[in-house]
Amino acid sequence: MMKRHLLFPDHPHILHGGDYNPDQWLDTPGIIDDDLRLMELSHCDVFSVGIFSWSQLEPEEGKFTFGWLDDILDRLNASDRKAFLATPSGARPPWMAKKYPECRRVIEDGRREEYRMRHNLCFSSELVREKTGIIDSKLAERYGKHPAVLGWHISNELSGECFCPLCLARFYRFLEEKYRTVGELNRRIWSGFWSHRFTAFDEIDPRDPALEAVRIDWKRFCTEQMRDFLSFEKGVIRKYSDQPVTTNMMGLYKEIDYFRLARECDFIADDCYPMWYVGEEKEVAARISMLHDLHYSMKQKPFVMMESAPGVPNFRPYAHLRRPGELQREMLLAVGHGADGTMYFQWRKGRGGFEKFHGAVVGHDNSENNLTFRQVADYGAHLRNLDRVVGTTRKIETALIWDWDNCWALEHGDYTHNFKDVHSVFLRHYRALWESNFPLGVVESCGNFSPYRVLVAPMLFMVKTGIREKLEAFVRSGGTLIVTHMFGYVNEDSLCYRPADLTPLTGVEVLDLDCMEPGRPQSVSINGSTVKVLEAAEVLRNHDAEILGTYQEDFYAGTPAVTRRRSGKGCVYYLGANFEDDFLRKFYFDILTEAGVAPMLAGLPDNVKCAVREGENERFVFLYNFSEQEEIISLPCPAYDLWNDRKISGSLTLAPRGSTVLVTP
Ligand code: GLA
Ligand code: ZN
Repeated sequence: MMKRHLLFPDHPHILHGGDYNPDQWLDTPGIIDDDLRLMELSHCDVFSVGIFSWSQLEPEEGKFTFGWLDDILDRLNASDRKAFLATPSGARPPWMAKKYPECRRVIEDGRREEYRMRHNLCFSSELVREKTGIIDSKLAERYGKHPAVLGWHISNELSGECFCPLCLARFYRFLEEKYRTVGELNRRIWSGFWSHRFTAFDEIDPRDPALEAVRIDWKRFCTEQMRDFLSFEKGVIRKYSDQPVTTNMMGLYKEIDYFRLARECDFIADDCYPMWYVGEEKEVAARISMLHDLHYSMKQKPFVMMESAPGVPNFRPYAHLRRPGELQREMLLAVGHGADGTMYFQWRKGRGGFEKFHGAVVGHDNSENNLTFRQVADYGAHLRNLDRVVGTTRKIETALIWDWDNCWALEHGDYTHNFKDVHSVFLRHYRALWESNFPLGVVESCGNFSPYRVLVAPMLFMVKTGIREKLEAFVRSGGTLIVTHMFGYVNEDSLCYRPADLTPLTGVEVLDLDCMEPGRPQSVSINGSTVKVLEAAEVLRNHDAEILGTYQEDFYAGTPAVTRRRSGKGCVYYLGANFEDDFLRKFYFDILTEAGVAPMLAGLPDNVKCAVREGENERFVFLYNFSEQEEIISLPCPAYDLWNDRKISGSLTLAPRGSTVLVTP
């Protein structure tokens, strides 16, 4: 029997709502009444409140105005709606920036920023902590037990870096804690290069590109700064409230190791803005599915899609209105992959400011008539049919390994550029598996591998100390591991391994890496067919693996390109080159079949993908049509269409961009 994970036991529905900024509307009579009426019509019932309200909550230093928020929360509660109450540290009020310049960050060139924009508090400043602590305690004390408050939304999209003296001093302490002595730092970061042997930690400039290990440490430090600030705000809230705490993440955002922030969060929340109309539909769908899989995998539990665009995001190149079906499909894509909430940015469009044209549920027409509102209301009306899905889990046996440290090592190590795009290689491998409807997870290399039977490590260039042994144990106990070109070149300090350090695991040794300019042919012969190689090919020396495929061109023709090494009850595949998509899809299908891992549903049309959530005695099968034509799915047995509340048998027709949810035993 699958265990249910109810994130919010008092609210047994899939959350539906969005960022709500009534503080911008306090001088507009009747607007809150309009909001409540439209909330009812749109079936929206959860709102993130107060994210950017600091200057409304504390208009002058030490002077607080909570009346408006009392009123909003009371009215939400009276209409049986809930709130994620935000701490307002995502944007500070002007009086603070003026009176206390130290709260403003110092940018890369050493200048202190003027007061502008948001997301730019210095996380090292004691003053910032003091002021944030005061406003957070007042909020938590006043509303910590308010019946409308479902949880806490800490800050907003934590991000950025600061080079002020306070931050640099903290960075030096971070280095000292890590390396203990400057001598040890010199040894591990290879500082003899260009005569960088340091005699004190404070001689180090984190902006110096000469030593990529320092750049990587700086990224780790910036993540640590955010984790620490998040933990500080959470600590303040915990004095008064037991409600769960989260912060909104930004997918594979390059600057933050979200696995670290995840540990501070009681549940995972993310912001998700797919660009459906730029690029191939299925490519976008695969990318977004992967992000949802990442967020589900972080805690192996349902998460909340905290922001998404109900209409046109203002920052995209085309203001493409959503086509019929698009909104529902995007929301159900999240739910199918484990979201127990789909929320929007934002509830109501402001009249002014930078985002006044960003899609919102309620537009400037202030009515239920526009396209966005109608789509949201239609989705909301069906959503209650999914109450049984809330808290259900996913059965995932295959995971891809993703590490932010690995990305940073690739980004800062200066070598030929077309080797370095781990994002697109990762996505290519993900998609090859996704195309065949395998349920997928995303795990960090130091994460827990025990739920998985198959692990895929696309371009895992940095293999940290102990990870080789961990992967070996995974394989020996029956796991299947697939690694690709550029596997295990460096350790956690970005120091290259001496030859053959990874060979005991893979059975092969990398002698050379060939990077082909466009048009230079290379291919591999495997299982009687010829497969094209894109850009990167490693010249391998076989130690004790089976050779499955060999190169066909150039001076290394006939040498191994794809190998398998069996060990204990499992095996390791080595893909020495970057292969084309069709090959990867077939390759993974065969390997997973051999490993005994089945797709969630077989025999779907190619444009239709699925996701499954496992209930106590039932499976919820989410189906998505990623094409602009009707797709017909034949059903092996009668099923119940939960989304549309009707029985179906024989076959099911999905409209263009259609989606639905079936329930099967
Ligand atoms: C982010 C922010 C929101 C808003 C949206 C616009 O996700 O968190 O405050 O700016 O982008 O898309
Ligand atoms: Zn700073």
